[in-house]
Formats: sequence, structure tokens, C-alpha cells
Amino acid sequence: MKFLIYKILKKINLFYFKFKTYLSYDFKISKKNIKLEQELIFQNEGLDRKKGEDKILSIIRDNPDLNNNLKSEHQILFSSISEKKKCPKILEIGTYDGKNALLLNILFPESEIFTIDLDENDSNFSNTYQRSKVNEKIKFCKERDDRLKNNKNIIFKKLNSINIKNLNQTFDLIWIDGAHGYPMVTIDIINSLNIIKEDGIILCDDVYKNTTINDKFYKSTAAFETLETLRNNNMIYSNLFYKRVEKSFNKYALERKFIALVKKL
Ligand SMILES: C[S@@+](CC[C@H](N)C(=O)[O-])C[C@H]1O[C@@H](n2cnc3c(N)ncnc32)[C@H](O)[C@@H]1O
Repeated sequence: MKFLIYKILKKINLFYFKFKTYLSYDFKISKKNIKLEQELIFQNEGLDRKKGEDKILSIIRDNPDLNNNLKSEHQILFSSISEKKKCPKILEIGTYDGKNALLLNILFPESEIFTIDLDENDSNFSNTYQRSKVNEKIKFCKERDDRLKNNKNIIFKKLNSINIKNLNQTFDLIWIDGAHGYPMVTIDIINSLNIIKEDGIILCDDVYKNTTINDKFYKSTAAFETLETLRNNNMIYSNLFYKRVEKSFNKYALERKFIALVKKL
């Protein structure tokens, strides 16, 4: 009986969240105006989106395995940064399948790229990103390791980002892309500010200004609220890029994601 009530309440909750999301439909939005706005955001940061996109398209033609089917703008962002700035030391929090570290290696061939992820025995590793089945987890890790091995510029470490100071390094570019909710993303932002070089850039993925559900790993306003607090206290400069420019990803304000660019003040 208790279980049944729990299931009914869960369904009602889900329906309520869906309803709230539909209500956040933005009638003004179109792919054309998001793309134009995105190009301006790039320009304001001194970045050339078109140049970055052309470079990415040519890299993907030669390396189809690195194709980002979800059309996330982070690839174009990294690419346009690589046209403007040398980043001798790069840190990626959240290696996942290793493809992004490979892309960074192509964009920044001279750089040393540290990429960290949780140990596969950590329950947060097993319980996220469909890695709960042992066989699938072993296959996932083997493919990641094969992808990254023999690359002298990529240093992969099994390390919880809570311990990033153990790397004993400072960085020119940090990609915060581990757990996206409280408390980890807040810890990652604060720790990253302590190990970013003076003129370094921090990028933080999957930033929601608003959302229906806040969870620990995928969907949360934690990054936005943390960055707003730091910005309001004059500790950082920050700006938001659309995570995707397609209308389908932006039509509901509560589903819209951003990538934050952060500089230490
Ligand atoms: C969104 S994926 C990373 C995607 C990858 N950066 C890319 O651009 O394709 C998030 C990864 O972060 C890892 N992660 C989550 N919490 C972490 C933590 N505290 N420390 C290190 N890695 C973490 C997860 O195990 C997962 O593999």
C-alpha cells in the first residue's frame, strides 16, 4: 500500500514538473536569433565562432569518432579559444569516454592535458551514465583507456575532483564537467579558482538558470547560483554561452542549458 502511494505521488510530481516545463515555452525564440546572439557572445569574448566551427568541422571530417552528435557548443568554444590563446596546461574534470580529451589534444597539440574521473569502484561512477552493469562498465573503461593510452600529452588520472589540489599543478584552461549539482559543482568551481593561472579561463558545462528538478549529477541550478554569488561579490567575471543553438533545445526556458566562461578577478 505504502509503495503504491509512493508510486502515485511520484507520477503526480512528474506530471507537475512536465506541466511547469511546458508553461516555460518561449514563443520569441528561433534558431536564427539564438545563433546570432551566440555569435555576439563569442565576439564579446574576442572569439570567432565561425572560425572555431570551421576548424571543428575539418577535425571531425578526419576523426569521425569525435563527432558530437548532441551538437554541444563546447567543441566550437574550445576550438575558437585555441585560435586565440595558447594553453600549455589544461585540466578536464570528468573524462567520461575520453573523446573530449582527444579533441583537446588535437586543438592544443603542444599542451599537457590532465583529465580526471572517479575510480570505477566509486558508487557515483557506477550509478551514473548507464555504467551500473559490471560487464558494460568494464567495456566502457577499456574503451576509454585504449583511446587515451600512448598519448604522451594526455595524463589520465582516477581522482575525485574534491582532491584536485593533489595534482600540484596550475592551469591555463579548466573544463568543469563532472557532477553538475550541489555540492560537487560548487566545490569544483571554488577549487578551480584556486588552481587557475591569473589569465586562465574556466569553462563550466551544463549550467541551468532555472530548472524543475535539482539533482546531484545532471540537472541543477547549483553552478549558476555559485557563479552569481561569486560575481556579485566581485570575485569573478563570468558570461554564459548557449549550450546548443537549436530551437528544440531552447524553447522551454526550464530546459535551456548554458556553458559558463569564468575568469578570476
Ligand atoms: C558529463 S561527463 C564528462 C564528459 C566529458 N567531459 C566530455 O566533454 O565529453 C561527467 C563525468 O564526470 C565524472 N565525475 C562525476 N563526479 C566526479 C568527481 N567528483 N570527480 C571526477 N569526476 C567526476 C563522471 O564519472 C563522468 O564520467
